[in-house]
Amino acid sequence: MPGFVDPHTHVVFAGDRAPEFEMRLRGASYMEIMAAGGGIMNTVRATREASPEDIVNESRKRLDRMLAHGTTIVEAKTGYGLNTAGELKMLEAIRLLDQGHALDIVPTFLGAHAIPTEYKDHEDEYVSLVVDEMMPAIEAAGYLDHQAPLFCDVFCEEGAFSVGQSRRILQEAKDLGMGLKIHADEFNALGGTALAVELGATSADHLACTPEKELRLLADSDTVGVLLPGTPFGLAETHYAQGRKMIDLGVAVALATDLNPGTCYCESMPFVMALACRYMGMTPAETIVASTINAAYAVGLGNEVGSLEIGKKADLLVLDMPDYRHLSYRFGTNLVETVIKAGRVVS
Ligand code: NIG
Ligand code: FE
Repeated sequence: MPGFVDPHTHVVFAGDRAPEFEMRLRGASYMEIMAAGGGIMNTVRATREASPEDIVNESRKRLDRMLAHGTTIVEAKTGYGLNTAGELKMLEAIRLLDQGHALDIVPTFLGAHAIPTEYKDHEDEYVSLVVDEMMPAIEAAGYLDHQAPLFCDVFCEEGAFSVGQSRRILQEAKDLGMGLKIHADEFNALGGTALAVELGATSADHLACTPEKELRLLADSDTVGVLLPGTPFGLAETHYAQGRKMIDLGVAVALATDLNPGTCYCESMPFVMALACRYMGMTPAETIVASTINAAYAVGLGNEVGSLEIGKKADLLVLDMPDYRHLSYRFGTNLVETVIKAGRVVS
């Protein structure tokens, strides 16, 4: 079968947040921890302090595990720098990882991942920093000249970025020729999905509480809905995106791990597929489509990878199973036997 495309990850970071995992098990919520200055800011502090070599070395091990579980293309976001130097350092780490690893990486600029502590109560100034300083610096550093485009993403959420702030950032990114993504409706429905459709975003991601009206807008658009069932699972929450309903409405649904140190430290697309069958009402066949061809479209590579077709890249998997349904029927073990990347056996 084609290799998995994982179209939404925060795989590049330093440190971990195991202590917060324990705090959450004792009752603290993810957004409470974030509001108290922990959460994403904890990883921002660790990543700001780390050298590019440290970030690369820590992240490479995660990419190795992703490859072993059958992922041949991964999207990777910045968003743990949250100042100009830190965001450029993350883009540089992503570039080094892409060059030095069999996996291909699609980069995404997520300067608007959180309001850094130093901008608390003057959030709009931080938005201005993203638009007026970070984006020009990224352009000046040559990250917009590559053949594969750079994406821009925003965490549109209460306690992060409003719809107005998200629109300002994404419109500027669009004007610079970047592809667009958005974290929409993860905890609260603010209107991020409608914004994604309005701006012609490549994908709208999370969609755990998107109202039906906006799901219909998404169904009528070319924007892919990227669902991340590992995230509610990782947070021990029981509310999942309505995958079944979205597919029935006509949304192009993709799946991704969302691999990150806060909500979902998971390298395995097959595990995400197992969750999608059980908690989002998707069939095993639908989870394969969502993890290959639809996921390829979610990172703008639908014409190059994601299916076995003449003219596409030979990113292939050999699986040790009697039937395709075993991919999501079984879980917690790796059934990928061989990974072939661009025609070469790599794992
Ligand atoms: O997609 N919600 C925002 N971003 C990530 C979490 C990142 C983190 O906690 O470090 C997500 O769940
Ligand atoms: Fe995310």
